[in-house]
Amino acid sequence: MTRTRRTLLHTTALLPTLWLALLLCGLPVGSGQAASPQAPPVGAPVDARRLRNAASEPQNWLMDGRTYDAQRHSTLGQISAKNVGQLGLAWYYDLEELRGVEATPLALDGILYNTSAWNITTAHDGATGKLLWRFDPQVPREWGRYACCEPVARGLALWQHSVIIATLDGRLISLDAKTGTPHWSVQTFDKAWPYSITGAPRVFGNKIVVGNGGADLGVRGFVAAYDADTGKQLWQFYTVPGDPSKGFENAAMAMAAKTWTGEWWKLGGGGTAWDSIAYDPELKLVYVGTGNGSPVAWKQRSPGGGDNLFLCSIVALDAETGEYRWHYQETPGEDWDYTCTQSIVQATLPINGMSHKVLLHAPKNGFFYVLDRKTGELLSAKNFVPVTWATGIDLKTGRPQVNEAAHFGVDPVLVAPGPGGGHNWFPMSFNPTTGLAYFPVYEHWFVYASDPNFVPKKFRSNGGWGGYTGEALKKRLVLQDEIPKREKTFLMAWDPVKQQAAWQVPLPRHGNGGVLTTANGLVIEGTTRQTLAIFRATDGALLWETPVQTAPVAGPITFMAGGEQYIAVNAGWGGGAAQIERGMGIAENRAAGRLLVFKLGGTMQLPPLAAAPPIPDPPPLRASEDVIRKGAQLFSDTCARCHGQLAIGGVKDLRQMSPDAHAEFNDIVLKGTRVQKGMASLANLLSVADTDAIHAYVISRAHEDWGRLNAHPDAGAGETP
Ligand code: HEC
Repeated sequence: MTRTRRTLLHTTALLPTLWLALLLCGLPVGSGQAASPQAPPVGAPVDARRLRNAASEPQNWLMDGRTYDAQRHSTLGQISAKNVGQLGLAWYYDLEELRGVEATPLALDGILYNTSAWNITTAHDGATGKLLWRFDPQVPREWGRYACCEPVARGLALWQHSVIIATLDGRLISLDAKTGTPHWSVQTFDKAWPYSITGAPRVFGNKIVVGNGGADLGVRGFVAAYDADTGKQLWQFYTVPGDPSKGFENAAMAMAAKTWTGEWWKLGGGGTAWDSIAYDPELKLVYVGTGNGSPVAWKQRSPGGGDNLFLCSIVALDAETGEYRWHYQETPGEDWDYTCTQSIVQATLPINGMSHKVLLHAPKNGFFYVLDRKTGELLSAKNFVPVTWATGIDLKTGRPQVNEAAHFGVDPVLVAPGPGGGHNWFPMSFNPTTGLAYFPVYEHWFVYASDPNFVPKKFRSNGGWGGYTGEALKKRLVLQDEIPKREKTFLMAWDPVKQQAAWQVPLPRHGNGGVLTTANGLVIEGTTRQTLAIFRATDGALLWETPVQTAPVAGPITFMAGGEQYIAVNAGWGGGAAQIERGMGIAENRAAGRLLVFKLGGTMQLPPLAAAPPIPDPPPLRASEDVIRKGAQLFSDTCARCHGQLAIGGVKDLRQMSPDAHAEFNDIVLKGTRVQKGMASLANLLSVADTDAIHAYVISRAHEDWGRLNAHPDAGAGETP
């Protein structure tokens, strides 16, 4: 009794503070927009109810996607088309990294939580940027070897009084939201396999679900749920079947195994859920987007063909038990590195005259899918970029009409989209007022061909796309010349009901950022013009744009602190987009990663960008043709996925090495002397003679390209491999 009364008294005493807090938050009290009376007081725990009702707290951004429907849509309206001209930088925070920065931050009670490369996690006063705490989980830099596209982190989660992060090397960690001190930490995968985590953990009920990546290097994909209070594993679901002789974990795996041939399990099979995992509170389902296979090419993975379930699919699981409910496979017999891990957005839309609870999905393969989320039934699908691997999707069977000529062997084939995808992980937003989905698209082409000598191997890149010579190489180079003429990039506004573009804004090239929309008609996106820009939701008219010295690839958020509305975005060039871009020879001078926060009347200036260092001369070329040829093959197998095909671009362009880097070359590659920068030793794959051959090849490439590299101040802009 006494306890109850005391609680009641306590609550009443809090009320005035609560109202004051709401007023300070600048919420239009009484407008209905914020459902203010139910808004929890500052400091209240982020419990299951609050997460479910995240839409009623527009001042906060409580989870990746803002709400469980992951629409990345805000009802805050202080910043509007009328006053957007007054928007300026309020504060920024240096992220200490030149590498990809892909995370969507979170905001709670005026505090901004962020995570960056190597999962370094920080908390800031949202109004001033003051650092409240910083937690470095000390990810072993050797693990960077297993991140396909830089050691990025795409997000974090809140639960009760803690911040949840999932690290590149597979730890799920709960941190005290006040201090950043860890409560607990659990290892989620077996480190004998090259798994990595780059996606955001998803919290619901008292559970955290997290997936992982690694299909390119050979792993068996899975997702698992953990107790949000203790980290104890509650359920696990594999996304591809294992070795049939060992028996299957469940009926779904037995069903999936019928769609595979050969001995796929030896390299794991892939299907990794490395990005979007959505929760549906109404249907109590978890939707998992799965990736490509291990090895990447179909016939190398499953020589007798087959759909290879559940690669490139959306799989719906029972949220309580992790049991299979339904799946929809977007690319059966996946062959082109198409992943179906991109943003999974939930909405209610009128389709064929009936209101449907749907999932919206625009994966790498170039089709926009609308699925019934109760059953997984395909309601409609239409390509949003040029697509050559299929001519369309049969709505009766739900299957693509595959263009057999796009399946490739040793003979090179030009296919759209390429492995970068028509739309990749860059988060999509849906605005229920305009009824449009907004996302960056890439009209992307790629020459696919199999290396005839390719042998799949765990821990090494298993694309098997390089290494060809003679006629095949000649044909590749001819096809390659086509690519720059065809490639285009846009910010896309797509009508999912009509399945057609409402408008698109051309942008310079691939790597435009994730999207945030607001109810008052703003579309906010980082661009490859090295800006943050705001477009009008109805027609794409540019309302505001500011230079930020780099292309912010991450998804922006908006939140309230001290009565003012803020827009926050991580600005840091990197990840897969940067690798493709640098692979095209585009290398601009850019600022290192920063968290940027804007408000009306913000006056902060970024420090001027330092000039790019000059390109040093390469050492003389002494090796024989044979050694260089051997080096080319080894480079393609072992280095190209991070340092670019033909040694152009990648995380660091090796044609532009300093004399010091040349002198240290073998130690860098075999002894891991640059491991702190993410270049781990590759001694388990290469001998000294192999490394010498690769070095000779890199030097020969520097000589071949020298004229072009030096002719241009931007280190070879416009050059193509
Ligand atoms: C998993 C990605 C990855 C792979 C695979 C990889 N590297 Fe690296 N490499 C890196 C990163 C990251 C750096 C550090 C970049 C920086 O300094 O910011 C680096 C740096 C280097 C450097 C130093 C360059 C300089 O100018 O400072 C050399 C040399 C190098 N790598 C050689 C190789 C070779 C040779 C291979 C293949 C045998 C290879 N790397 C494979 C990621 C990779």
